[in-house]
Amino acid sequence: MTVAASAPGKVILFGEHFVVHGAPALVASIDLRATTIVERSESGGVRLSTGSRDNPAVRAAEYVLRKLGAAASLLIGIESKIPQSVGLGSSAAVAASCSAATLHLLTGGFDRDMILEASHEGEKTVHYMPSGIDTSIATFGGAGIYTRSSGYKMLSIALDEILIVNTGRQRRTGDLVLKVKKFSERKPELFKQLLDEAGQIVEEGLDHLRSRDLEKLGRLMSRNQELLKIMGVSSPEIEEAIALCLSAGAYGAKLTGAGGGGCVIAVADPDKLDKLILRISERLEAFRVRLGVEGVRIERP
Ligand code: MEV
Repeated sequence: MTVAASAPGKVILFGEHFVVHGAPALVASIDLRATTIVERSESGGVRLSTGSRDNPAVRAAEYVLRKLGAAASLLIGIESKIPQSVGLGSSAAVAASCSAATLHLLTGGFDRDMILEASHEGEKTVHYMPSGIDTSIATFGGAGIYTRSSGYKMLSIALDEILIVNTGRQRRTGDLVLKVKKFSERKPELFKQLLDEAGQIVEEGLDHLRSRDLEKLGRLMSRNQELLKIMGVSSPEIEEAIALCLSAGAYGAKLTGAGGGGCVIAVADPDKLDKLILRISERLEAFRVRLGVEGVRIERP
């Protein structure tokens, strides 16, 4: 028997990195999904059809087996529409979909808390102290506020679409999280100020979303970007992508996810998005995504 499950990627609208250190972040799922297909195999423990073992899917499936006290050999296939290592939550979506498919294959059940727990374990292959934001949004979907202490609170964010620009530069989340940790140890007072301001930005961001003020939302994104830049997680590619978005008519733009390359998000009037994409696409890959989609789900029991 084979089970397929899928989970969405994400964009962090405000608060990445600071969320690792206890501040809130505003996050939304996107309509790009990773699908994982799990089947029993004759032998070989848990492995990917590509042969690789150090993968969030493998780690998550092994965790589910351990939790259930089950011993099974599993073969895992991954089909993902989420670009990898560019800040769109691909590894968390792979981990969540694999956890769900494994759990369903072995028990016939679907338990989001268990899926979240297993995904979190899988995410540790990507970096050593994940805040849990990526796996929460992959598991529950929608959009909302995440904090390490209280977890994910789903909210209606009244923003249907956003523009994504891919700088094309892949990077490792762990390296950037470590860079911020070192910054916080080197400059504790400045870091504390930035952390406090990041928290206020999230609050303000929510207000602008509620009042659908895209212009203020854009300006706030640019402010959030400044804070990230001070900590050293921007890059020349990111700055170039942001400048392109602004000159094409976006209200504001920022990196999303860990930075160091990866993707930039930008807000603009919905009726101008296509024109912006056309202009930005002359230099970089640009596309629009729908926000607030369904979390992890079984596709083929
Ligand atoms: C990665 O999508 C977001 C970071 O804040 C890391 C994390 O929260 O685990 C950079």
